[in-house]
Amino acid sequence: YLDTIEQGPPDAILGIAQAFRENNRPGKVNLAVGAYRDDAGLPFVLPSVAAAEARLLSRGEKKEYAPIEGLPGFIQLALKFAYGDDCAALKEGRIAAVQTLSGTGACRLAGEFYARFLPKGTAIYVSDPTWGNHINIMQLAGLEVRKYRYLDRATQGFDFEGLLADIEAAPAGSIFLLHACAHNPTGVDPSSEQWRTVSNAILRKGHHVLLDCAYQGFASGDAEADAFAIRLFLDEGHSLLLAQSFAKNFGLYGERVGTLSVVCADAASAGRVLSQLKCIVRPMYSSPPIHGALIVNEVLSNAELRRQYYGDCAGLADRIGTMRLRLIEELAAVGSTHDWSHVKNQIGMFAFTGMTAAMCDELTERHAIYLTRDGRISLPGLNSGNLAFVASAIHEVTNG
Ligand code: LMR
Repeated sequence: YLDTIEQGPPDAILGIAQAFRENNRPGKVNLAVGAYRDDAGLPFVLPSVAAAEARLLSRGEKKEYAPIEGLPGFIQLALKFAYGDDCAALKEGRIAAVQTLSGTGACRLAGEFYARFLPKGTAIYVSDPTWGNHINIMQLAGLEVRKYRYLDRATQGFDFEGLLADIEAAPAGSIFLLHACAHNPTGVDPSSEQWRTVSNAILRKGHHVLLDCAYQGFASGDAEADAFAIRLFLDEGHSLLLAQSFAKNFGLYGERVGTLSVVCADAASAGRVLSQLKCIVRPMYSSPPIHGALIVNEVLSNAELRRQYYGDCAGLADRIGTMRLRLIEELAAVGSTHDWSHVKNQIGMFAFTGMTAAMCDELTERHAIYLTRDGRISLPGLNSGNLAFVASAIHEVTNG
């Protein structure tokens, strides 16, 4: 039967990273995957993370299995990081949570959970556009995926009215998947006021909310400020799930560390929900890996490392913000008269340029600059060494 199996399609993001690796051309540039690089184009381990890891190793980290739900100390600290140190719901023990294989694993568990416990046929609404993997994850979990308006393609800005209309039009009790901050791929986030309006609209319709938080700390440089939507939705009493990733903000990409949490009405309900999450996890992958979770636990439980961490994270966000501005300056310097103001207004790891798929293909084929075909650029892929080259290539493909 194996000879009848057809080639599967490459992944829209990671497939491009593979094509990049396979090209031997000197000077090739990888702007495809949202992974931090330093100004020399190299992967970067946060100093606070390296220090925490050294402490773990010097203590002789054991390689025991974690419980099905993950390491309890890590989970508590991770939830405080998201929901706030003084979160009442946490103190009341009414947030059920498991450690996950980063944000993807958290979303997948959320999908499975919804598919099991919400009425059959409940659809999940994702932003148009959204992170490509969201759609596959939720479809594979058995949910029907529909889109809500998000990006106004005429201005590359926020289609606030469109989002509100789609919240209103969706059948009551639908699921809305929202990006907690630093929307991927658009870099377009609601303002605090707009978040409040969105929250009210969702509450009015009795929709369920899955917040995907992959970039806490990357929107403003301050992880506390970036938790605004999470804390608002918790306070407003939503039917809320949170998928939390430590891939980007702790630079723990390959460690696969995150959480999925479910906010319940009381501790008894949270206990039942946790038991069901464990029933999903055990036959899927038994229990999560421990190393990355131990690192996050070490950073967040040690006051000095934690302080250092907040500085490290601000440093990452700062370099990304600098690259955003320098890209726009370089584009002007090479003579681009195109309006790039939307890129300036966006936040987070990406610039959503508005370039067409054909322009992206041209950048890749002619200049060996790799980016996703939706025109998204991973800003930390830019550095002092390649900025001018990238800007003139973008100018060339967009000029005319
Ligand atoms: C991205 O959007 O580039 C990242 O979230 C990496 C991934 O897994 O797609």
